[in-house]
Amino acid sequence: MKVILPYRAVLFISVLMLSFTLGQRNSVAMDEGGCLTCHQYPGLVRPEKPNGIKVFHIDEARYLRSPHGKIDCRKCHSSVHKVPHVGVTAVNCNKECHLTPKDKKLIAEYDLKALHSKEKSYLTRLEDGSSCHECHDLYPHRSNELARAFINMHIGFLTCDTCHINREKFKTLTYDWTSSEAARFSGKPYGTRFNPKISAVKDSAHFISRIAVFSVENGEKRPMLNTRDTQKARAYLAEEKNLTPDEKKKRLRYFHRDIHKKEISVTCDECHSKHSVLDFKQLGFSKKKTTDLIYLNIKGLVTKYKVFFFPEMFRR
Ligand code: HEC
Ligand code: HEC
Ligand code: HEC
Ligand code: HEC
Ligand code: HEC
Repeated sequence: MKVILPYRAVLFISVLMLSFTLGQRNSVAMDEGGCLTCHQYPGLVRPEKPNGIKVFHIDEARYLRSPHGKIDCRKCHSSVHKVPHVGVTAVNCNKECHLTPKDKKLIAEYDLKALHSKEKSYLTRLEDGSSCHECHDLYPHRSNELARAFINMHIGFLTCDTCHINREKFKTLTYDWTSSEAARFSGKPYGTRFNPKISAVKDSAHFISRIAVFSVENGEKRPMLNTRDTQKARAYLAEEKNLTPDEKKKRLRYFHRDIHKKEISVTCDECHSKHSVLDFKQLGFSKKKTTDLIYLNIKGLVTKYKVFFFPEMFRR
């Protein structure tokens, strides 16, 4: 039997479905552009020359409480239509709002960069004793425009070797939490701040636990986090300017002997999929969080497309 739905029923169902979709994130009515799908994450950071950083996290709750909390992101960011946001132009405060001369003067004196400053959280310091941290910045990823902020965000979840270990050289790898590492945050602390498997440890804003990689040899778990070369790395940095390019290359090769070329680093899909190298359940993630981590929909945007347009998300 062919069912022809009357016009009103179709409308009703559409509205029902729409309210269902919107209802999933009903607290972000102003974010109809879906910006917070990505920008909700603390630790989204890009390094900026010479040695600064730019933070892209926008805390939803804090944004809502801010003077502009009821305004859709796209009202100010009117030129963001695709990802990566190629050619984002500066925000123009006087196009539709702040039209009076008094307002214009106020805006001219206002430091626009400060607008979201209270809505951001990120790590400012992390002490894991690794050789990597001697030479590399806390947020070392800059070359891949689309993925760099997301990769840098993982510094708060994973040790460097978890993604970079040479998996040809070490065949039997397993993943587990580190004990607490000293950390400092700007904004709200985030991540897992104590080893979830040691229940006696207190949650503290000054510590963090991350997932690390271990090599299993003769039934024994050996941490891959490189703390063996930390002294040598310091010595290298002290002598670096007196070394010839060839010597530098040779010594750097030593420090990276267990590290894959960056192209072979673990990619989004190798963790965020059903075939994840991480056993989320065994690591102690809840069933819901495990599903979220496996079916993460952002990873498709980062891995599949060079430029991704959001016909739905960004329709105005
Ligand atoms: C698919 C993920 C994603 C979505 C959706 C998204 N962004 Fe972004 N956005 C990013 C990433 C990643 C960066 C950092 C890019 C980089 O590393 O240079 C960024 C950077 C920015 C920047 C700073 C640009 C710069 O170079 O300084 C602004 C402004 C911005 N986004 C606004 C928005 C707005 C407004 C929306 C919604 C209309 C939005 N974004 C939606 C991922 C996203
Ligand atoms: C009232 C206008 C306004 C609204 C609304 C607004 N922004 Fe912004 N946003 C700005 C200004 C101004 C800057 C700083 C631009 C600059 O540095 O030149 C900025 C910068 C950013 C940046 C770059 C990081 C930074 O802080 O410099 C991101 C990411 C961003 N906004 C995302 C968002 C998202 C997501 C929303 C919605 C939840 C949003 N913005 C809503 C005005 C606004
Ligand atoms: C003595 C300083 C030093 C130490 C220690 C060090 N790195 Fe590096 N690393 C560098 C320099 C300099 C470069 C860029 C030059 C190059 O590619 O050799 C680099 C490049 C890299 C690259 C990019 C390689 C590529 O394919 O282009 C990765 C990934 C990397 N390091 C990860 C690590 C990890 C993980 C550790 C810790 C086990 C570490 N590094 C320890 C100095 C160091
Ligand atoms: C979530 C996995 C992940 C983690 C954790 C991670 N990296 Fe990477 N890293 C990558 C990927 C993927 C690339 C290759 C990016 C590209 O160019 O496509 C990369 C590239 C690099 C590069 C090349 C430079 C650049 O701009 O891309 C360096 C250096 C590097 N990583 C160092 C580190 C260090 C040091 C740590 C620990 C502080 C670390 N990485 C943690 C995944 C990771
Ligand atoms: C080595 C494994 C690994 C790789 C590679 C990896 N991730 Fe993740 N990712 C994780 C883990 C583990 C978490 C959750 C950490 C936590 O909440 O404690 C996470 C969290 C996230 C989250 C936050 C999800 C949430 O609901 O809290 C996003 C978004 C994300 N990853 C995106 C990416 C993208 C995009 C890439 C590729 C550029 C990537 N990840 C690569 C392991 C990985």
